Amino acid sequence: MRLEGKVAVITGASSGFGRESALRFAQEGASIVVADITEKPLAGGFEADLNTSTAELIRERGGRAVFATCDVTKKADTDAAVAVAVEEFGRLDIMFNNAGIYRGGKLIEEFTDADLDACFAVNVKGSFHGAQSAIAQFHRQERDEKGTLGNILNLVSTAGLGGHPKQSVYNISKGAQANLVRCLAIEYGEQGIRVNGICPTYAKTALTRALYDDMDFVRTFAESVPLKRWGEVEDVANLAVFLASDESSYIHGDLIRIDGGETLSRYSV
Ligand SMILES: NC(=O)c1ccc[n+]([C@@H]2O[C@H](COP(=O)([O-])OP(=O)(O)OC[C@H]3O[C@@H](n4cnc5c(N)ncnc54)[C@H](O)[C@@H]3O)[C@@H](O)[C@H]2O)c1
Repeated sequence: MRLEGKVAVITGASSGFGRESALRFAQEGASIVVADITEKPLAGGFEADLNTSTAELIRERGGRAVFATCDVTKKADTDAAVAVAVEEFGRLDIMFNNAGIYRGGKLIEEFTDADLDACFAVNVKGSFHGAQSAIAQFHRQERDEKGTLGNILNLVSTAGLGGHPKQSVYNISKGAQANLVRCLAIEYGEQGIRVNGICPTYAKTALTRALYDDMDFVRTFAESVPLKRWGEVEDVANLAVFLASDESSYIHGDLIRIDGGETLSRYSV
């Protein structure tokens, strides 16, 4: 029960990393607001049960969770998701800005303004809004006995740490999201608000389904990673639990890779 008594809003928690993180957070004792544009998991994902929402699954397992409709591109929606946390569970301890979208398969000259705008609206503005809404609520609360006022997690990507071919609009949005982690950490650390970013490489979710359906890519990618496999949603959820818990209380402003060694500077000889 590493998150016992804590209240978390997790954006994009109907599917993928967010869903698995919500399940793990609840298992560790947290109360969860699943904040997403859609309540059921996305078609094309790898969830065992596409008909049961995350909040329903948590409640079936004896945990506490509610769903809140939330489009993170709208600040009013992230405010509303935080308000649901306060109404239902009395406070907010953890804001997990996980919602994100991917655009790939084109060179820079081929991407449209619509591709660029979509990535920035969800991945950058969405995290910015989530942070703003959470900080406003944290300021209405008292620090806990460890001096923590709140905890913000951003689901970034190894794409936020460097370049990759044919997904520039995604990478530059993730780069901005990574810098948001640093800016938040610098401005709000002294107030007791801890902020970190999680940087996975490709894992099996609806977001990467098209890549996973390409067997050549599946093999080539796994071969390029020192640990020789794709990431799993559980890998990310376990890191998120640690970063959300007091066990990581001196980790701040970090962007933690969870990538099987993909981003080491030199792997093959
Ligand atoms: N899957 C990967 O390989 C991978 C790797 C690195 C980083 N990421 C990042 O992880 C995060 C989660 O992605 P995932 O792989 O679990 O994808 P996913 O597609 O399985 O889930 C994304 C969830 O976000 C929701 N969402 C989309 N737009 C939204 C919006 N405007 N407002 C609220 N919710 C919205 C979707 O409905 C969905 O439930 C994203 O930020 C993504 O960029 C994914």
